Amino acid sequence: MNLEAFFKISYGIYVVGAREDDKMNGFISNTVFQVTSEPPLFAISCSKDNYTAQLIQSSNVFSVSVLRKDAAATVIGNFGFRSGKDFDKFAKVKYFEHNIGAPVVLEDTVAWIVFNVEKTIDLGSHLLFIARAIDSELIEPTAEVLTYTYYREVKKGKAPKNAPTFLDEEKIKAALTEEKLHAYYCPTCGYIFDPKKGDLASGIPSGKSFENLPADWICPVCGTGKEDFIMKMHS
Ligand SMILES: Cc1cc2nc3c(=O)[nH]c(=O)nc-3n(C[C@H](O)[C@H](O)[C@H](O)COP(=O)(O)O)c2cc1C
Repeated sequence: MNLEAFFKISYGIYVVGAREDDKMNGFISNTVFQVTSEPPLFAISCSKDNYTAQLIQSSNVFSVSVLRKDAAATVIGNFGFRSGKDFDKFAKVKYFEHNIGAPVVLEDTVAWIVFNVEKTIDLGSHLLFIARAIDSELIEPTAEVLTYTYYREVKKGKAPKNAPTFLDEEKIKAALTEEKLHAYYCPTCGYIFDPKKGDLASGIPSGKSFENLPADWICPVCGTGKEDFIMKMHS
């Protein structure tokens, strides 16, 4: 499995806000999706370790602020990399308190929506809140929004372990290296496909893994199909 394929799924970046009594908090989420049009239901995935999860569970309401493409790194740092358990994330940002009972972040915000939770699904590490949009406002109709791809590839931003889309870069590299190292042999004639050498007769350059050879690739010696090849455990 090439875990980098996961990065080709598109997401936005949002601040999710909630309150319980007089404590307000929020976190950065890239997993906010509309799941039905009528009624207007959305899903968000929230780590059980996030302090905000506790506030949403007790109040059953939350807000989502859609961030601008040029959102300040400090906004993402404030909400996305520290837990608000012991400090006030709202001390230095613009926001207002919606009468639904959730704070709405206005800092670098293109649009906001507030929600009532209708269903909570326990996913083990995360809670999936299915929630109905109750009120919304477009603040900057023409401003571009921040996408997760832009955040990762241009801003070189990272996501912490609590993010559902977190991928351990070391694991990705290890998986790719391991994949490239595997040689495969032909059960019919014993030909060995060595990724370090490639198969020049068929135009396969060195460095291409066996897994990424075309499905119709055949043994250059005897014509046995790719699917019959066997991984050589020690190459
Ligand atoms: C780009 C980015 C995307 C993130 N996406 C999510 C997410 O979808 N769900 C989640 O639970 N945490 C996500 N996080 C992690 C939380 O924002 C982070 O753990 C935060 O500090 C939790 O704050 P809290 O404990 O005050 O609620 C993301 C962080 C970043 C930087």
